[in-house]
Amino acid sequence: MFDRRIKIAPSILSADFANFGAECRAIEAQGADWVHVDVMDGHFVPNLTFGPAMCAAIRPHIDGVMDVHLMIAPVDPFIDAYANAGADIITAHLEAGPHIHRTLQAIRATGKKAGLALNPGTGTDAVAHLIDLCDLICVMTVNPGFGGQKFIDMTAKIRDLRRLIGDRPVHIEIDGGVTPETAPLVAAAGADVLVAGSAVFKGGSVSNPAPYGANIAAIRQAAERAQG
Ligand code: DX5
Ligand code: ZN
Repeated sequence: MFDRRIKIAPSILSADFANFGAECRAIEAQGADWVHVDVMDGHFVPNLTFGPAMCAAIRPHIDGVMDVHLMIAPVDPFIDAYANAGADIITAHLEAGPHIHRTLQAIRATGKKAGLALNPGTGTDAVAHLIDLCDLICVMTVNPGFGGQKFIDMTAKIRDLRRLIGDRPVHIEIDGGVTPETAPLVAAAGADVLVAGSAVFKGGSVSNPAPYGANIAAIRQAAERAQG
């Protein structure tokens, strides 16, 4: 059976940038299901973050799933580098170029799982033509580029996608502004993977990781209650 239980994926964009290895170990020890890595290029989005070498460096510190969210354009020249860095899932944006179909094929060709991300302004029309190339669809609930932004309600889009997916083995991931307050909305609409940066890392640190666990548990419980 495909696993539609709620999975919490902390975004290390909100971690201590001087301490990524320890931060990844801490969030996994505190109950994270996946580790979400936000790759930004200063071109597709107005911020710069992690290259493939950085992903390769943190890989040994992650036991579970490394979920790499590419907010870059072009995508195709960098797919092999992130696959070789040890990503388990590589997600590209529908808006990142004219050939998203080819990009998803290229991700699958590396043996990795392929994700398709949709900005808040992007509809679901094209998804029907891409869905069989996807292991995950990421619904952005902020405009990508920064952590700590306000949640944008995309529940109608999530419901559409849930209907479109039917019983196919495709996750619906939500990224941006996820908190214990917003998690029930997206879980009730059909999401199963919740990315959260600021709401997971707030109040904690590698020397005081218990708040990470409490924050993850609060998001998970709120979502599970709503999932139905
Ligand atoms: C936004 C990133 C998100 C973001 C989530 O561009 O893709 O993963 O870091 O951070 P919060 O949970 O703080 O909105
Ligand atoms: Zn992300």
